[in-house]
Amino acid sequence: MKKIIQLSLIALVFLMFSCHQKQSEHDPGSKYSEKYRPQIHFSPEKGWMNDPNGLVYHDGEYHLFYQHHPYSSMWGPMHWGHAVSNDLIHWKHLPIALYPDSLGYIFSGSAVSDSENRSGLGTADNPPLIAFFTYHDPVAQDEGREFEVQQQAVAYSTDNGRSWTKYDNNPVVKNPGIRDFRDPKVVWHPVSERWIMCVAAWQTIRFYSSANLLDWTFESEFGEGFGSKEGVWECPDLFPLKINDTGETKWLLIVNINPGNPAGGTGTQYFVGDFDGTHFTTIQREPLWLDYGKDNYAGVTWSNMPDGRRVLIGWMNNWEYAGDQPTLHWSGSATLPRELGLRKVRDNYLLTSRPVAELRKLYGKSNKIRKLKVNGSRQIFEGRMFVGSPVEIELTFDVSEMTRMDFPGKFGLRLSNRLGEHYTIGYDNIVKYYYADRTHATSEDFSPLFSSMQYAPYLIESERVTWKIILDWSSVEWFASDGDVVITNLVYPTEHFDTLELFTEEGWIDLPEAKITQLTPIW
Ligand code: FRU
Repeated sequence: MKKIIQLSLIALVFLMFSCHQKQSEHDPGSKYSEKYRPQIHFSPEKGWMNDPNGLVYHDGEYHLFYQHHPYSSMWGPMHWGHAVSNDLIHWKHLPIALYPDSLGYIFSGSAVSDSENRSGLGTADNPPLIAFFTYHDPVAQDEGREFEVQQQAVAYSTDNGRSWTKYDNNPVVKNPGIRDFRDPKVVWHPVSERWIMCVAAWQTIRFYSSANLLDWTFESEFGEGFGSKEGVWECPDLFPLKINDTGETKWLLIVNINPGNPAGGTGTQYFVGDFDGTHFTTIQREPLWLDYGKDNYAGVTWSNMPDGRRVLIGWMNNWEYAGDQPTLHWSGSATLPRELGLRKVRDNYLLTSRPVAELRKLYGKSNKIRKLKVNGSRQIFEGRMFVGSPVEIELTFDVSEMTRMDFPGKFGLRLSNRLGEHYTIGYDNIVKYYYADRTHATSEDFSPLFSSMQYAPYLIESERVTWKIILDWSSVEWFASDGDVVITNLVYPTEHFDTLELFTEEGWIDLPEAKITQLTPIW
């Protein structure tokens, strides 16, 4: 008996010890302070994340589901992880929403609030949330039944997304004989009063329609002869946007591509055109790019927004090296949610992105410098005024005299640390492009494709330009020219970047204002 008690005591102590270890490894309260851990961006407590999924606003909450492998920080059998927020900035983790099953892994997709209970899966008083996802069947894949691997399916929830039931008659859209057939995005088309499902099908987007969200009819296909064909098309989105100045409304088709990003690896092209409920049409043959950095992929937008804004969130990573991240316990994070806008510049449409206004909730101490002149190099906000991320930096350049002989050939900002690691962003006034230089932004040697430069062709035409730069532990999101150009990049400096230096090459420039604002971590 004594022996048994002794043994159970030992077992208890061992159990307590291992529980304690587990907790200190993954407890979000004490964690989120690991090396490189994003402080103002969503990332999973542990395990792997890629695409954001099922973005929907419902009953006061923004839902963020995401491609998730909970058991390792590498991609694996996909689940839908789940988090909710009241403000798009602070996130609360919820239990996993969808687990893989006998029909396959749960690949990317979307969600809608079926407020009129057209599906009949809820009641009039308690309308359901409906999620659409791709079943990816690894068994069919192994057995070479390639047209049975990817099909579209439904799950529903009548308790604000807290629990989910998979629909009995899945799949709702069977594979039409295309190996890559995935990532259903369901949107409401108000004129025809029907739901539209966009599905990425190899290098086209197929459109389906439905009145009840369960029975789907094929309508049309877009893509032959349009856009980049360098890789497979993934994660589409479709929505109308109004140009504020003119009142004109256009339909935007977002098409993620793997690979095909001009910066290398995965990226997001978009098309501006019209959608009549059956066909998407555009005269735009060449792709336009949502983000010129390397690390904004699989971005899609929230449905059912309470205020008409169009808000996109992406996975802040690139399939080129996503599996090799130098982070422990977890891998992957989301970009900041960005409000999209549409501008017309002469005959061209331009999709703009700005961090959502709610980011202000994180504003802490702020410092401003007025009337700066930069000729060569000038350090700003030295010492205690800037102690590292997370911060927002806002720079306003006076470019009214761009034709002046001694207007600089290049101007920009360099972030660095005492180890000499640095990240540079700038404008090249001779070739006319924005650029980012990530060739010295880490000492981690995890992928030869990480060290790189990015370029965004852009003609500055206003008298002043404003840049917003959001610096977190391991990312820099740069919204140049008020969000006309975005460059999102991961960085892995050994120590936080804590030095800011403005620079010009061959000439000088005025900055009416520079401002830095500390951001409060969200965890
Ligand atoms: C995009 C993607 C999707 C797919 C998912 C799998 O990053 O490849 O097309 O559904 O990731 O995790």
